[in-house]
Amino acid sequence: MDSPEQRIKIAVQKTGRLTDHSVELLERCGLTLTKSKDQLIYYGENMPIDLLLVRDDDIPGLVSEDICDLGIVGLNVVEEKRLNLEAGGNAGLFKQIYELDFGHCRLALAAPEGTEYSGPESLEKSRIATSYIGILSNYLNKNNIDAETVYFSGAVEIAPKLGRADFICDLVSTGSTLKANGLTEVEVLLESEAVVIQTQAPLGADKQALVDKILQRLDGVLQVRESKYIMLHAPRSGNDEKVAVHAVCRETVFWETLENLKAAGASSLLVLPVEKMLA
Ligand code: PRP
Ligand code: ZN
Repeated sequence: MDSPEQRIKIAVQKTGRLTDHSVELLERCGLTLTKSKDQLIYYGENMPIDLLLVRDDDIPGLVSEDICDLGIVGLNVVEEKRLNLEAGGNAGLFKQIYELDFGHCRLALAAPEGTEYSGPESLEKSRIATSYIGILSNYLNKNNIDAETVYFSGAVEIAPKLGRADFICDLVSTGSTLKANGLTEVEVLLESEAVVIQTQAPLGADKQALVDKILQRLDGVLQVRESKYIMLHAPRSGNDEKVAVHAVCRETVFWETLENLKAAGASSLLVLPVEKMLA
C-alpha cells in the first residue's frame, strides 16, 4: 500500500441522506472499497483513495484543514461553515467544485400552523430556533430584521412546542418532519444539494492527477445518469428501405415518445441504459 500521505482521502457523511449516494457514486467511478467493520474508513482496493465516514457538519472543516483532500457534503453545511469562517475572519480554505444533483433539500423558515406571515417583516422581534445560525443571521441582516436566533443542535422542530421559539429554520426535504410537528413552511433561505469540495492546500503532482481523474469520471457518471442509448429502424422517405439509427438521449425516454416514433414508421425500437461515457 502507498504511504498514507500519498493516498487521497475523501470525507463522506457517516449516516444520513447522503451516505449511500456518495459511496455508490464513487463506486461507479471505478473505486472498489473494503468496508471495514468499524466503518470509520473505507479503504480503496484498486486506487489509492480512502473514504472517511464522518459527521456531515465536520466535512468542510476536515477539507479546509487539509485532513481530507475532497469531501461530499450538502451545500447547506458548506454555506454555514463558510459564513462561520468568514465571521471569524478566515476565508474558507476549500473550494466548491461540483454539484452532484442528489440530496436535494432546502433550508426553510417554518412556523406553527395558523401563524400569520406576510413576508420577512413578520419575523421582526421574533425568536427563531436553528442549527444554522450563520445562514439565518446572514438572511436577517440582509433583510434588516431584528430577531433573536436560538441555537438548537438538533430536534429544532420541537422548539415552538417547548415555548422556546416562534419560528424555526431547518432543512426540509419531504416536509414530513414539519407536518408531524404541526409546522408550515413560510420562506426558503437556501436550495441545497450534495456538492464536492476540494482543499485549497496544494496537492502534489501525483495526487492532483488522481483528483483530476476522479473528477473526470464523476463528470462522466453524472452525465450518463439519465442518458439512454436509443436504437431503431427508421423508414427512408421515398422507398421501403429502412436505416438503423443510433442516438444518445440525455433525458428520460417516455413510452409516448416510442409510440409516436412507431406511429411515424420506426420499428425495432430499443432503449438501453448508458453505463459509461468519456467525452
Ligand atoms: C433534517 C432536518 C429534519 C429532516 C427533514 O435532518 O433537521 O429533521 O431532515 O426532512 P423531511 O422534510 O424529509 O422530513 P437530517 O436528517 O438532514 O439530519 P441532520 O440535520 O442532523 O444532519
Ligand atoms: Zn448533520
